[in-house]
Amino acid sequence: MPRRPIFAANWKMNKTAREAKLYCAEFSALGIDPSIADVVICPPFTALDSVRTSLPQTIGVGAQNSSNHLSGAFTGEISIGMVAETGCSHVIVGHSERRALFNESPALLSEKLDRVIECGLHAIFCVGETLADREANLTQQVLLSQLQGSLKPILSELSTRWTQLTIAYEPVWAIGTGKVATVDQAQDAHHFIRSTLSGLLGPQAGKGIRIQYGGSVKPDNVKELMAQPDIDGALVGGASLDPRSFYEIIKNGASQ
Ligand code: 13P
Repeated sequence: MPRRPIFAANWKMNKTAREAKLYCAEFSALGIDPSIADVVICPPFTALDSVRTSLPQTIGVGAQNSSNHLSGAFTGEISIGMVAETGCSHVIVGHSERRALFNESPALLSEKLDRVIECGLHAIFCVGETLADREANLTQQVLLSQLQGSLKPILSELSTRWTQLTIAYEPVWAIGTGKVATVDQAQDAHHFIRSTLSGLLGPQAGKGIRIQYGGSVKPDNVKELMAQPDIDGALVGGASLDPRSFYEIIKNGASQ
């Protein structure tokens, strides 16, 4: 069965709830056809509710993070139950900014993935190498350890629930830099991720799990990325902040 494309907007720490409402009105008015792809918008926590209530149900809403704990004395944290109650369908786990700036380890990310999957939501699990890793020829080694480190501890749960998992390959050196990976670099990494998933979860999951590319995706480069056999969508940062440009990315990418 062909994999359905999935395009997600990661707004990072941008837009208040009020600004998010204006965005959603503009984005909805563009009239994206829900049959062409899964579309998910991931605003900051404070805008989850207004985004959910401003968008049609055919568009998913995602959180950018959630706690590995279910409740308790964790000042400033947001639990998966709190996220789920806003009507969210997705949660981004392990974005490179969280790994690098908030010291999130593969073991911690495994716990977070577990909470998301247990709760019945979809996880967008991010992996990717730094420029130093790539220059030292360590790309595959880094991807393997990120995937194994977080997926291995929850293999038995994932074996029946892998449809709740999407991987986002985001080379750190391509994020917010305007430097998009070449289509060959992206395809090679996606292919490697897919074979690693097959090894961990079996061939059916390996074939079925969607892998998004992220890093300086724009309306004019998404088509060639989506033409690659193992690229199933995009996780978009900067270019998703403008409703028309996110719309164009979806339209151009899904028509590939
Ligand atoms: P940019 O699209 O701004 O490069 O960000 C990519 C990203 O980090 C999405 O999660």
